[in-house]
Amino acid sequence: MKKVIFLDLGKHPITNNFLKTPKPDKEFFYNLKLVFNNKTKLISLANFVKPKMMFNDTYAHRASASMTMQNAYNKLAEKIKKKYDPKKILEIGSNDGVFIKNFKKVKNIGVEPCKNLAKITKNMGIETYDEFWDFKLSNKIKEKHGKIDLIYSANTISHIHNLSETFKAIKNLLGEDGIFILEDPSLMESLKNVAYDQFYDEHSYVFSITALKNITKDFDLEIFKIEKLKTHGGSNRVYFKKIDNKKYKVSKIVMKQLKNEKKYGINQLKTYTKFASKVKKSKRNLIKIFKKLKKINKTVIGYGATYKSSTVLNYCKLNSNFIKYFLDTTPTKKGKYTPGTHIPIFKYKGIPKNIDYAFLGAWNFKDEIFKKEKSFIKRGGKFITHVPNPKIL
Ligand code: TYD
Repeated sequence: MKKVIFLDLGKHPITNNFLKTPKPDKEFFYNLKLVFNNKTKLISLANFVKPKMMFNDTYAHRASASMTMQNAYNKLAEKIKKKYDPKKILEIGSNDGVFIKNFKKVKNIGVEPCKNLAKITKNMGIETYDEFWDFKLSNKIKEKHGKIDLIYSANTISHIHNLSETFKAIKNLLGEDGIFILEDPSLMESLKNVAYDQFYDEHSYVFSITALKNITKDFDLEIFKIEKLKTHGGSNRVYFKKIDNKKYKVSKIVMKQLKNEKKYGINQLKTYTKFASKVKKSKRNLIKIFKKLKKINKTVIGYGATYKSSTVLNYCKLNSNFIKYFLDTTPTKKGKYTPGTHIPIFKYKGIPKNIDYAFLGAWNFKDEIFKKEKSFIKRGGKFITHVPNPKIL
């Protein structure tokens, strides 16, 4: 069998659909199931949600929301300028411009289908196409600007359903000496962390290096360098060149990573069935913690109403009976309710004195949050996390 469903996480809403009311008339739900493709070794959702339902002019995520991310993008931009000196650079999924705005002295182009976000970079004077990335768009840009030296895309390619079209479009627009950099959550880290919350409507895929190699080779693309990142709880920054381009040598890291993945069992279905058992256990143990805290009358809130947390809350059925409210710094989430579980979200102004526990929705920013919340911790406040296994910190 080529494709096998290995985990059913139940019914889930659109993670970005933060609600205006706790009792919506109707809310869209889909079945969140995970699939292993035995041919390409690609892990994907069984049912894709229509892109326009997720990426539209109410899209809430702001890449600039975290200082950690802002600093990381600034640093990366400086590194790219120094190492590759691109004269024309394009970003697929430019969000609020956190990365592409660092390239003001060269031709910088954004592609961002969420019109509210595209407007932000347009206002910065950055040429932005508020369209979905596809072959037609790559031709349109090529006609105007010629081929591009460097294409960058962070946390976006994994959101696009048609990967063949995506890579065909990249091949079409990328110069012969050009570089394509993809940054997305790492499948291996997700498996190791039992971070099943990497799976939600927007993440149509969670990539391994193995699968990326398998699915890009037909599009004249070859991985020549990989960097492991801490972002999103463990991501890979993968550098591609065209196969005939001898300017860049393939780093030993690529082979090493492929070997590591093989050793871990990325190629085998049984790795995923084992992961599925760990996820079910994680659910049982997290519910146990919440039930215990409720029984002893502790006040629990959520910290960071992330997209990821939507998977945890809906899968474990944690609603406002268990989590009083969420605190979040994103202005567009303020005053809304979490999708599916209808927990109110308040603007972050510090953790109030009456709070005993905070569930780390933004566990990927644990270090930043722990530094910020020293006084909460000092007065005995505790955090709850579900990665790598449910516990009180
Ligand atoms: P993000 O890391 O992008 O995760 P996801 O892709 O799963 O949504 O989102 C982080 C969220 O957490 C964002 O809504 C901002 C919020 N946040 C806080 O409220 N306080 C903080 O200190 C940090 C770091 C994040």
